[in-house]
This record gives sequence, C-alpha cells and structure tokens, in this order.
Amino acid sequence: MSYLGLLNKKPYRYYSLIDKATVDQILEAARVEEVVEDFVNLKRRGVNMIGKCPFHDEKTPSFTVSPSKNIYKCFGCGEGGFPVNFVMTHENMSFPEALKYLAKKYNIEIQEKEVSAEEMAARQIADSLYIVNDYAKDYFGNQLFNTDEGKSVGLSYFKNRGFLESTIKKWNLGYTNTDRDDFTRAAISKYYKKEHLKTLGLTSKSDIDFFRSRVMFAIHNLSGKVIAFGGRTLSSDKKIPKYMNSPESEIYNKSRSLYGLYFAKTAIRKADECIMVEGYTDVITLHQNQVENVVASSGTSLTSGQIHLVNRYTSNIKIIYDGDPAGIKAALRGVDLVLEHDMNVKIVMLPSGEDPDSFMKAKGTDGFKQYLADNEKDFLFFKIELLMSDAGNDPIKKTIVMKDIVGSIAKIPDQLKRAVYLQETSRILDVDESILISETFKIINKDQKKKDIDLRRKQNRENKQNSNTPFAVATPKGEDQFFPMNDGKVPLPPGGFPHQSATPILHDEYQERDIIRILVNHGCLIYDKDSNVTVCQHIVANIRDDIDKIDNPLYKQMLEMAMSAIDRGDQVTAELYANTQDTNMSKVVVELMADPYTYAGWQHKGVYLQTQKPPEENQVLDTDQAILRFRLVKIKKLIDLVEKKIKELTVNQNSSEEFLLNIRVLQKLKDERNTIAKKLNAVIF
Ligand code: CTP
Ligand code: MN
Repeated sequence: MSYLGLLNKKPYRYYSLIDKATVDQILEAARVEEVVEDFVNLKRRGVNMIGKCPFHDEKTPSFTVSPSKNIYKCFGCGEGGFPVNFVMTHENMSFPEALKYLAKKYNIEIQEKEVSAEEMAARQIADSLYIVNDYAKDYFGNQLFNTDEGKSVGLSYFKNRGFLESTIKKWNLGYTNTDRDDFTRAAISKYYKKEHLKTLGLTSKSDIDFFRSRVMFAIHNLSGKVIAFGGRTLSSDKKIPKYMNSPESEIYNKSRSLYGLYFAKTAIRKADECIMVEGYTDVITLHQNQVENVVASSGTSLTSGQIHLVNRYTSNIKIIYDGDPAGIKAALRGVDLVLEHDMNVKIVMLPSGEDPDSFMKAKGTDGFKQYLADNEKDFLFFKIELLMSDAGNDPIKKTIVMKDIVGSIAKIPDQLKRAVYLQETSRILDVDESILISETFKIINKDQKKKDIDLRRKQNRENKQNSNTPFAVATPKGEDQFFPMNDGKVPLPPGGFPHQSATPILHDEYQERDIIRILVNHGCLIYDKDSNVTVCQHIVANIRDDIDKIDNPLYKQMLEMAMSAIDRGDQVTAELYANTQDTNMSKVVVELMADPYTYAGWQHKGVYLQTQKPPEENQVLDTDQAILRFRLVKIKKLIDLVEKKIKELTVNQNSSEEFLLNIRVLQKLKDERNTIAKKLNAVIF
C-alpha cells in the first residue's frame, strides 16, 4: 500500500475505548518478527530476517525485519514501520483494530466499555462490515447448533459427511433455515443497518435473506475475520445452484482470497508447500485429517492475486485435481500463471470420480499422503503427457503441443530452471534442443518487448501525473553535495535513499534529517565519558537555540519532543516517536532506523567502506559531524540573506549605518562559517 493510502485512513475512531496504559502494554509486547511471521515467510539473514514483501509483488526477497530494532522495512517498495503499522497496513485495519488484534495475539486483556445502542449505531456508520459478518457467522452457527431445523437438517448433514463438532466450530460452519427473512429481521433488531447487510449480500435487493435453506461456510481473511460466506444447498434439485457465494464487497475480493488460508498458513510455511484443491469440503476434510497445508481457490481457476498470497509462505504449489478431464484442461491455464511467479508446480491427479474429500475418507491420512508422494508429477511432464496423449502421432498436432509447452517454459523467470526443462522436453518429445531454445527465446523476446512498451506507457502516464508531487526526492545540490547524510561515506543504495520520503524534501532536509537519524538510532549512547552526557543530551543542548531555524515542521516537532524528554530527565530513543499515532512520524523513524549500514543486504554488496566504523561505535564523530553540518547549512543560509540585504542597501544608498552593520554581521557570519568548515574538515580527515 502506498504512503498516501496510509494518510487517507482515519484510524482513531475507537481509540478512547482502550486506555493509554493498555495501549502502551500492547505496543511493548508486540515483537515485529512474531507479528510479521504470521503473514510472511522469514528467513534469518545475519541479525535480520528477510522475506518476500507482502506489499508488492517480488521474486527476490527485499522485505527486511529487524528484531533488535523492532521494525520492518521493504527496500523494494519502501513500506516500513513498527509491528502495529504492519498490522494496520497489511490487514487494512485502523489503529485500534490493530491494537485489538495484537492484544489477542499476546493475550492482553482490553477493558472495553459496554456497547450501547447509540454506540452500536455509531459503529454502523463506520466501516463495520466485519462486525456485520461476525454477527451473521454467529447467527448461522446458532441456527445450526440450537434450532430444531438446524440440528435435524444441517448438523446431521455435516456429521454424515464426517465432520467433527470441533471441526464445525473451528471453520464457523452454519445453517440458514427456509424462512424468507428471519436473518434480516434479527440483524435489524440488533441495530445492524440494512444497507450494510445488502452491501455484504446477506440481504437481497428485495429485502429477503440471500442465503436460505443452506449449510453455510464462512470465508476468512488472513487474520481470521469473516469476509464472505458460501452456502451449499442440500436439495438435489438440479435447478437450484449448488453453491451461492457472497458478492464481492469492500472486504471481499474473490480473486485475492483463498479459502482456508487463515488456518493453513502456518502449516504451509512449515511444510514449505501449499496444496491447492477445489472445494470448501475438500479443505475441511483434509485439515481434519492432519493435512493442514491445504487451501481452495473455490471453484475459479487460479488468479495472480491468489498466487501472490501463497508466494508469501512458500514457492512450492501442489495442485490436486479431481479425476475429470474438463477440469484439468481449464486448470492448466492457471499453471502458466504460477510459473511466471517463479514457483514450482507439482500436479496430482486423483483416480476418476474421486475428489480430495472422498479420497481422504477412503484412504485415510497415511494412504492419502502416500498417494500424493507416488503420483505427484512435475507440471511440465504432466502437461506434455496430457497433450501428447491427445496428439498421438500426428506431426502437426505434435508441433502445436511443442509450441504450447515452449510457451509455458518461456514463462519461467529462472534461467537455469528453464534450461533443465528444455533439456528434458527435448528428450521426451524427441525434438532437437537447439530448436526448443530458439523457439523459447523468440517468445521471451516478444514478451519482453511487450513489457517494455507497457512499462514506458505506464511511466509516461505517471510522469504526467506526478509532475508537481510534493514527495519527490531531491538530491543535494551544489556545495552541499560534499556533506551528504550518512557521514558522506555511505553511497546511496540503488534507487536512492531515503526511499519514498514521508515528508516533502525541503532545502535543508539532509542536515535536519541527519540530526533526527542520530537521535533515533543512537540517542542513548554515551557522548562524553567523563561527564556521562548522552548523545541526545548533547544534541539537544547544541540545537536548542536553533530550533526555530528548522524548516521541516515534522523534524521540528520531533526535536521539540526530544527537548521536553530531556527536560523531564528522559533519554531520547526511537520509542519516543514510535508509539505516536502520527503515521508520518513513525514512517520517518523507520526510514531512519533502516539505515543501509545496519542492513545485512547492503553489507553483503559491499556498498560502504569496510574501513569505517559503523555509527553505533562512532557516535561522537557522527554526532559532531551532524551538528556541524546542520550549523554550516544554516549559516550559509543566513549569509545569503545578509548578502541580499547588503545588495539592496547598496542600490538604495540611503542608510549607511545599516549598511555597515550588515557588513559587520556578514563578516562575523563568514568567520563562523570558516571555523565550522575547518572543524568539519578536521573531523572528516
Ligand atoms: N462452487 C461454487 N458454485 C457452484 C459450484 C461450486 O462456488 N455452483 C465452488 C465451491 O467453492 C466449491 C468448489 O467450487 O467448494 C468445488 O465444487 P464442487 O466440487 O462441486 O463442490 P464440493 O465443495 O466438493 O462440495 P460437495 O463435496 O459437497 O459436493
Ligand atoms: Mn466434494
């Protein structure tokens, strides 16, 4: 999500419901790696952890998590923050919603006020679609377990299918009776708004219940909230649709959700493999039988968004197809999509007439697993086999098959993998490998040209739109170039740094920002051993008089916060800024904490000088330089002002006294500038 997206949110609606002490307790408990790991597969890399960014589509991981700093940062798209920000952005939650989520995760109790009818009504106006769905889920569950019709029709159906009671509860299965508007009336009597019920598709346009006389399957998002429902009829009447599903809504995007992923994600990560099946019941039965790395695309062929979802947890997909040929052909289309994402695809065909649900029941867990192991096929060989059995010995058909296969191989981004597949294909099809290779490259080139054109078009469009964006990242100009941030020794990483600055870059951006960088990262280190003065105390003492010269209002505010912290006798750390509700501020803090120095990825690429000490062992020099540079740039600005004034006075020639005064001031300023420049040189060399 873009930074602007964050800005547009109004997350603090229910803030008053949670008291400050609890908020602090939650924010303190939340560990970034634990929070992120529920959604992203992380691997250790030195002191940090790294994974594929959940906020943009990428093949090589650039999403970095720093447990020691308790922050995450993507060097690809610039997204970054503290644990609570991750939950807010990733789950599209408001600040209090994210707090509640974290509280649940860390078993922290939140004391909430009793919800009155008025408050309930207020919530209705807010984006309370989740609450409505939650109510519906409970309603359908209650119908299933506590009504005569529910028990005799719905519950006995599920039990006949072999679902345990614990399974039924875990998956929030339910029942709706035959009455035309029982649910809608009940919901409205509880102050839920009809307009929300309609948005979610629970109530139809003609004010009656959308789901009637069906067993219900709740569909959860990644954090376990109910975003939609599927209802299965128990009637064998062919005219009645077997399944009815909630329409898409603000909270339900069908092509970007996978049934069961909430319950499967941990197992998928552990197994480093995701099994894809077709139906709700397939997923539930497999989970109940301890095969838990299973999700369903719910009857549609795979979409790019769904693959992207899986790609966060694993690169390995195993698709299980029911044993009917129509489904297989359609599904093959999905496979090319998976290949484009550089994932490994295996395919398992079940015996004809079976689906994973029935097959698991027939074979049991061990038998099922064994069958998968014995029958999994690499997608390509599966495809070749399938297409070749159609083509027989017809040379023209064989050529078409070859083109089809080569088309799939061309989609694989990994060059090595491609080579292996080409070799194998040449062997199986008995076609010269060089022909396959040249065919593949033809396709790749064609695709690439198309991509280039698309990209250029997109850039042109964006350039037009962004020509006066306030968020453009400026580079230091003129003399200041000798004094860039990061000690002047750390080159900016590819693509520039800071990435996507959260604040408009003003004239003295770098010098002001650098002061904040040191406060946030090293404020607590000792600056002077003899007097025990810390870095933040030293900085505040030196900047205090110049506070009004700070151009960037956000940095000014942060320095003022630092000043009052010092005055209170506290030290300045990142936490001082982290626990604010100001997304702008926490964004800046994280950008500064995600300094390239400390990020393993950059170190491996050798982008900084090996001979220089990292800033955390270099705090005195680092602090001195930053303060001097800050002073230098401010003095230069003053000099410019005074020089301008002198010019004006020269032209007007009417006040020689003022003229002389300004000359004297100018001289003083220049002396001071030279002194600082000298000191700075002494510090640098
Ligand atoms: N589906 C759907 N609408 C339909 C039929 C199917 O949305 N009219 C989706 C459902 O998500 C369903 C999946 O496609 O779970 C697979 O369909 P199917 O195999 O027919 O259903 P099962 O889930 O296997 O149901 P059952 O075993 O009860 O027949
Ligand atoms: Mn089935």
